[in-house]
Amino acid sequence: MHPAMVTTPLLSLEGVGKSFPNGTVALRGARLNVLPGSVHGLVGANGAGKSTMIKVIAGAHAPTTGTVRWKGEEVVWRTPGAARDAGVATIMQHVPLAPTLTVLENVFLGSRGPWRLPRARRAEFARLLERVNYDIDPDAEVMDLAIGERQMVAILQALATGAELVVMDEPTASLAEGERRVVFDVVRRLSAQGTAFLYVSHFLDEVLSLTDRVTVLRDGTVVEEGETASYDEDRLVQAIVGRDLLAVERRTAPPVDAAAPVLLTVRDLRSPAGVRDVSFEVRAGEVVGFAGLLGSGRSEILHAVYGADARARGEVLVDGEAVRRTPRAAVAAGMALVPEDRNAQGLIGTFPIWKNISLPDLPSLASGRALPRERAEAERAERVIADLGIVCPGPEAMVTELSGGNAQKVVFGKWLHGGTRVFMLDEPTAGVDVGAKADILELVRRFAAQGGAVLVASSEFEEILAVATRVFVVREGRIVAERPAHETSEEELLMLANGFGEGGAQGAA
Ligand SMILES: Nc1ncnc2c1ncn2[C@@H]1O[C@H](COP(=O)(O)OP(=O)(O)OP(=O)(O)O)[C@@H](O)[C@H]1O
Ligand SMILES: [Mg+2]
Repeated sequence: MHPAMVTTPLLSLEGVGKSFPNGTVALRGARLNVLPGSVHGLVGANGAGKSTMIKVIAGAHAPTTGTVRWKGEEVVWRTPGAARDAGVATIMQHVPLAPTLTVLENVFLGSRGPWRLPRARRAEFARLLERVNYDIDPDAEVMDLAIGERQMVAILQALATGAELVVMDEPTASLAEGERRVVFDVVRRLSAQGTAFLYVSHFLDEVLSLTDRVTVLRDGTVVEEGETASYDEDRLVQAIVGRDLLAVERRTAPPVDAAAPVLLTVRDLRSPAGVRDVSFEVRAGEVVGFAGLLGSGRSEILHAVYGADARARGEVLVDGEAVRRTPRAAVAAGMALVPEDRNAQGLIGTFPIWKNISLPDLPSLASGRALPRERAEAERAERVIADLGIVCPGPEAMVTELSGGNAQKVVFGKWLHGGTRVFMLDEPTAGVDVGAKADILELVRRFAAQGGAVLVASSEFEEILAVATRVFVVREGRIVAERPAHETSEEELLMLANGFGEGGAQGAA
């Protein structure tokens, strides 16, 4: 490694602009300098242009203006293959793995070298795992993996190419604490060995602790860049949103009235997916948090309640009426699920925003046998866009044209309609910027205050405590503890989620 003073940047962007055919200008005159062996943070609100910049670097988008330099030489990478061959590995925001291939096959997809041969591959795979200190079955099919594991496969895939620069677009957005630490560890370890990183994240604590330098994008323009050490969270937030922002309000909700009607009853729910004898009730006005580590079964419980898991057994009642165990019956009974893997399960890319938003609710928007009333649909879409602050040209925009965080807000918004009574959210704010996060939590509170019931599964216990009235701690597919939100703490939830019993919870504040 060279001393930083005499170093030419490994990668630099100068005056880079990118406009899309629909007129959106995603980048204007953007610059970036990534020094060799450094960890460079890239931050900005949803729609600021981070992923677009990354796609330019990765050779997936041709910039409209400006130049890209690699080790001081001007380059034009017309394909992702060209960037990869030069030494840039990119982990995109939405992991494009091949679901029907195994972990091993995915990891070496597209990488050249001696590991075309099965034996060499396995040995190299084992070396990679050791390098990152992680363990995963090489023969598992990717479609059977949890989202966090898929993210790890994408990281392994990037490392397998032996890149000098690894670009990560929100690598930890759907990871639990343990895996998040694996990612940090990988970044720290490899950067110490000379690999440079460009790291995009909405978790500002990650950016502050992991990166050496940081670039802030706002509306496609670089508004600040500097040494990370000269920033604290407040200054970074201010640079991102362009104004002071109140911290996510930590007002723990009081329990709801015990006389409130029971909206959702779940009895003896179990599934081979790892749900074991789960029974609970949720009253109107309640926001129940499911706090659990990755693999604890928190998502599986929501899926089983919703009827998305055909192998699940047990009873689910809404308003005292049994609901058949299919998503269609669940929707008819007023249940909605916003899954963690929103990209795969939530949206139809070739439909405009307004159509995606009114999909779940076509019956109530339709008058008699006529087609859904376009006016009503357009109005709703405009309301959702305004309520959630979705950055887009308008309701006619295709969802494929949205930034990652804004697409998530559309999924969230499509269920916010009159027919939903039981709202189930899996990691509701993953990938959402600091400003929108507060908005979404407020919408959840409002939904409950209007008589709905909400189930929120999250690995961010702080977030659960910010919205929930009651918390279930999930471990090994069971609800192992229940706490009123105002009588517990992040520390206590973490202990319980890790399997330390009540007796050991002396650390709870
Ligand atoms: N293919 C496309 N066609 C048209 N507009 C697009 C396209 N891709 C992105 N955009 C627009 O470009 C802008 C920047 O999007 P980008 O995905 O770079 O944002 P981002 O900073 O990565 O946001 P997020 O934090 O939500 O992932 C947004 O307004 C987005 O709607
Ligand atoms: Mg993005």
